[in-house]
Parts: sequence; structure tokens; C-alpha cells
Amino acid sequence: MVALTVNNQPVDYLMDPDTPLLWALRDASNLTGAKYGCGDGSCGACTVDVDGAAVRACTMSLAEAEGRFVTTIEALSRDRSHPVQQAWVSNQVPQCGFCQPGMIMAAAILLRRTARPTDTEIDAAITNLCRCGTYPRVRDAIRRAGA
Ligand code: FES
Repeated sequence: MVALTVNNQPVDYLMDPDTPLLWALRDASNLTGAKYGCGDGSCGACTVDVDGAAVRACTMSLAEAEGRFVTTIEALSRDRSHPVQQAWVSNQVPQCGFCQPGMIMAAAILLRRTARPTDTEIDAAITNLCRCGTYPRVRDAIRRAGA
């Protein structure tokens, strides 16, 4: 059994401790916002917040997540859309949308640390890949959300 906190709820996962966090979230907790893209930490589609840091959940094992606080996009905002999500809607960021939950999580974590990031800071923090090439809109939305 591996115990951690997911979206402010204590959760005991009865799974192999080597299971990637992504599969625990998706398969056991039915939190499907974090996506499986590459499985090797390259694309960022699976990005979640672990103790305030952007983590690629496909490369973190349950054992590594034990005792930590994990937040997924499902709990990014309690009652209304998070400012990053509002900016994403206003700027019509998504195209196919598959990578966007990970992008939004990475953006929200960046803005928590740096309210008005420069383009250089945005590019350093948002290393998520988007096959639709939404990068300019992602940047603009982050600027809007941080304004
Ligand atoms: Fe985790 Fe691509 S699925 S980084």
C-alpha cells in the first residue's frame, strides 16, 4: 500500500509501488485529466503538481510519491475556473487539446512562483510539447493570467 494525498484527500493505493503515478491517478482514482503522451518524461502531457512543483507523472513512481501532496487539473480550482483556465478560454489556446491539461498545470505552477514571468522564464518553465503548435497562444495566455 502506498499512501499519499491527492487533491486534498488521503488516498491509499493498493498497487505495486513501482507503478507510475500517472497510472495510479488515471486507473485507480479516475483522474483522467493528466494524459499519457510519451511515457518517458519528454512531452509533459501528464504534468501534475507534487508539493508545488511541476512533475511528469509518467516518470514518478508511486513509491516516490508516497507521503506527498499531489494536485491534478481536476482540483486546480475549487469553485470556478482558475485564472489560467480563464485565460486559456479567452485566448482560445487549445487546438486538439490533448496536451493542454499538462500545459495549464505547468503554467499555474509557474505563475504561483513568478506572477509576471518574462518570455525567457515562460520558455524555461513550459517545456511541454504541443503537436498543434499552440506555443504563441500559450505564452499570451500566461501573460494574460499573470497580468
Ligand atoms: Fe509523461 Fe509524456 S506522458 S512526459
